[in-house]
Amino acid sequence: MIYKKNKLNIDGINIDFLARKFNTPIYCYSLKKIKENILNFTNNFNKINPLICFAVKANTNVKILKEIKNFNLGADVVSIGELMKAIKAGIKPKKIVFSGVGKTKTEIEYAIQKKILLINAESKSEILEIEKIAKIKKRIVDVGIRLNPNTDAKTIRQISTGKKENKFGVNEKIFLQLVNYVRSSKYLNLKCLSVHIGSQILSHKPYQKMLIVLDKIIEKSKYKFDYIDLGGGMGIDYSHNNTKINLKKYSSYVEKFIKKNNSKIIFEPGRSIIGNAGILITKIIYIKEGFKKNFIILDAAMNDFMRPALYAAQHKILPLKKTRNRSKKSYEFVGPICESTDKFATIKNFQKLNEKDFLAICDVGAYGTSLSSNYNVRPKPVEILIKASKVYIINKRQKLSELI
Ligand code: LLP
Repeated sequence: MIYKKNKLNIDGINIDFLARKFNTPIYCYSLKKIKENILNFTNNFNKINPLICFAVKANTNVKILKEIKNFNLGADVVSIGELMKAIKAGIKPKKIVFSGVGKTKTEIEYAIQKKILLINAESKSEILEIEKIAKIKKRIVDVGIRLNPNTDAKTIRQISTGKKENKFGVNEKIFLQLVNYVRSSKYLNLKCLSVHIGSQILSHKPYQKMLIVLDKIIEKSKYKFDYIDLGGGMGIDYSHNNTKINLKKYSSYVEKFIKKNNSKIIFEPGRSIIGNAGILITKIIYIKEGFKKNFIILDAAMNDFMRPALYAAQHKILPLKKTRNRSKKSYEFVGPICESTDKFATIKNFQKLNEKDFLAICDVGAYGTSLSSNYNVRPKPVEILIKASKVYIINKRQKLSELI
């Protein structure tokens, strides 16, 4: 995104034009950026030639999944719905892995029927359930076991998943018991060790620690895993001040790791593929003077974009038109929903704004629409994709009639 003649542009398209044409709020994605992110990811890890399974939970739009599939990525899914969407997008089942602590019988049956690459089990009970279904279906099912490596991802508490207090995976003792159990099962084929320690991780160090834990446990298990699924979690630069994770370093540790263990690596990135490829375009409904601050009341709200309300996440906000006027103001950007957490940001020294001005909330491509809801009976925004400087509607704005 750049300003051209003081107007914000995406891939040669003036965003102000989009705002007027489609009405706001709008989720707008750039395919160019998605491509750039995928190339960046594959280049950084080219020495280990991993299978990259896009974490569908980050963005579940089927048209976007189709584009991602065209770059040969697979999918990481956590529900039957995500699995159906991945298949609908044309992603080959043999490139799909299924994670999650609570897969139901129906979900497991569907995954087996579709012959996906791996069901990554997260408990003893789940292993028994998969085995039971496999036996009834007279099938041998490829499974992974998710380890909880008790590694601190040093990220926001709510999105940390690899510590012993988290519900994910199994501890070392149970992991080793399950390896032995699955090894001797007639209906299960143990293929994979999986981990995922958290999301929005900005340092390579937690991953380095995680790999040390894996090394040890693989040695103890005396088992050769065909796949090691390292999960996702690679963070992005929301603050736009060059705080980037060093993927090359991470890759060099993985390289060493596979020299010893010689397994195919799977990654499950979500945010790093799509996070910075989306913006939420919104209009100022009113400007209201408060006791101590001025509220900018937008037509987008926490139901459209939850991250600030859920995790106090900071997202950059940009005006679609830069004004020459030098006067600056402090603003609190809020939505119209009846909750005090319906707030996007407080920003000092913002250009002076007027009612009906348009703004862009940045980096909403991941966990934007996928976390959105109809709270306050608000229809979900239209989604558009910019592809080779053309604009495509990839999801219509929800109609009020669909909700009422
Ligand atoms: N694999 C597994 C098993 C996961 O649980 C997740 C994310 C991923 C992969 C993808 O992680 P990523 O590369 O996108 O960091 N709603 C939160 C993020 C929750 C992430 C949940 N699991 C947010 O908006 O920050």
